[in-house]
Amino acid sequence: MPRALITGITGQDGSYLCELLLSRDIEVHGLVRRTSSLDRSRLNHLFSDPAIYGRRLFLHYADLDDPTTLRRVLLKVAPDQIYHLAGQSHVGLSFEIPESTCEMTAMGTLRLLEIIRDLPKPVRLFHASSSEIFGQPAICPQDENTPCAPVNPYGCAKAFATQMVGVYRKAFGLFACNGIMFNHESPRRGENFVTRKICHAAAAIKRGLQKELPLGDTSARRDWGHARDYVRGMMLALEHDQPGDYIFATGQLHSVQDVVERAFATVGLDWREYVRLDPRFMRVAEPSNLAGNAARAKQILGWEPVISFDEMIIEMTRAELAALA
Ligand code: NAP
Ligand code: GDD
Repeated sequence: MPRALITGITGQDGSYLCELLLSRDIEVHGLVRRTSSLDRSRLNHLFSDPAIYGRRLFLHYADLDDPTTLRRVLLKVAPDQIYHLAGQSHVGLSFEIPESTCEMTAMGTLRLLEIIRDLPKPVRLFHASSSEIFGQPAICPQDENTPCAPVNPYGCAKAFATQMVGVYRKAFGLFACNGIMFNHESPRRGENFVTRKICHAAAAIKRGLQKELPLGDTSARRDWGHARDYVRGMMLALEHDQPGDYIFATGQLHSVQDVVERAFATVGLDWREYVRLDPRFMRVAEPSNLAGNAARAKQILGWEPVISFDEMIIEMTRAELAALA
C-alpha cells in the first residue's frame, strides 16, 4: 500500500485530502502539533472508525519549527508522497504576526526540503502555494510564468517557499511540485475567512442567534473554487510521471458582495438589513485581479474544477443552517 504524509492534516484541505487518499487505498500519516485542546473536529469521523484510525490513518506529533522531530517522523514513516499544507494561512493576520508567518510558511518549507534532500528513499513532494504570490499582477488571468509580486507577509512567505521548491527540483532533482492555488472554500473552511463568516452569519441570523454581519471591503474580488476540487489536483500532481508547477483555479472572479447575496438568498433574508461596514476587517493592502489560468493543469493532469461558485455557497450556507438546527 503506498504511504502518504500530510502536514496540516487537521486543516480544511488536509481533512479532504486525507479522505481522498484513504479512498484510493493510500495509507495516510498526518503531522499534528501539540495544542491545549484535542478537538480535531474535521477528522473526528475518521478517528471514530476502528477500520481506519490506527490501521490506515496515523497521527504523529511534530512542528514545522522542530526539524529534529520532523526528520525523525519522516525516517520512521518513510512515505512515498508528502503533501505539505501546514502553515499560518490567514492573509489579514499575517500583518499582525509577520515573523511567525514567515518562520512557519517560508522557513518551515525550507527545513522540510532540506530533510527530504537527505532521505534515503526518494519521495514526491506537493507544496501548497498560493495566488497571493502574485499580489497586484499586471496580467490577468495569471499562469505559472506570472512574476511574483506579493503585497503582504503571507504572500512573501509563500513566494519564498514556492521558489525554493523550484530550486530544489532543479538543483537536487527532487520530485517537488507547487500547486499555486487560488481561494478554495467549503463547509470546513476556518471561521475567520470571509465565505464561511458570511454563510455562518446568514444562517445564524435566520435562526435568531445573530443580529448583524460586520464586514470589511465587500467589493474585493477573488477566484473562488471548492476545496474538494483542489485536493484532487494535489493528488494528480503527485501521480504524474514528471514534477512541475500548476495553477489550480476556476478563472472566474466574484466579489465578497456576491457571496453575501447568494448566502442571504439561500436563507430567504434581505442582506441590506444586516450587513454593515466594519473598518477592523479592512486590510492594510489588498491584492487585485487575482484570477487563475489553469490550462496547464487541465492539459497535463486532466484537472478541472467541477463545483460552481453558486453550488458551493449554497452548500456552505445549508451546512451552517443544519449545524444550528
Ligand atoms: P487551514 O485550514 O488554516 O489549515 C492549516 C493547517 O496547518 C492546520 O492543520 C494547522 O494545524 C497547520 N499548522 C499551522 N501552523 C503549523 C505549525 N507551526 N506546525 C504544524 N502545523 C501547523 O488551511 P487550508 O485552507 O487547509 O490551506 C492548506 C494550505 O494551503 C495552507 O498552507 C494555505 O496557506 C494554502 N492555501 C490555501 C488556500 C485556500 O484558499 N484554502 C489557497 C492557497 C493556498 P492546527 O489545526 O493545529 O492549527
Ligand atoms: N477574512 C475576512 N473577513 N475577509 C474579508 C472580510 C472579513 O470580514 N471582509 C472583506 N473581506 C475580504 C478580504 O479583505 C479579502 O479581500 C477577501 O475578503 C477574502 O478574504 P479571506 O477569505 O480572508 O481570504 P484571502 O483571499 O485573504 O486568503 C485566502 O486565499 C488565499 C489564496 O488566494 C487564504 O485561504 C489564503 O491562505 C490563500 O493563500
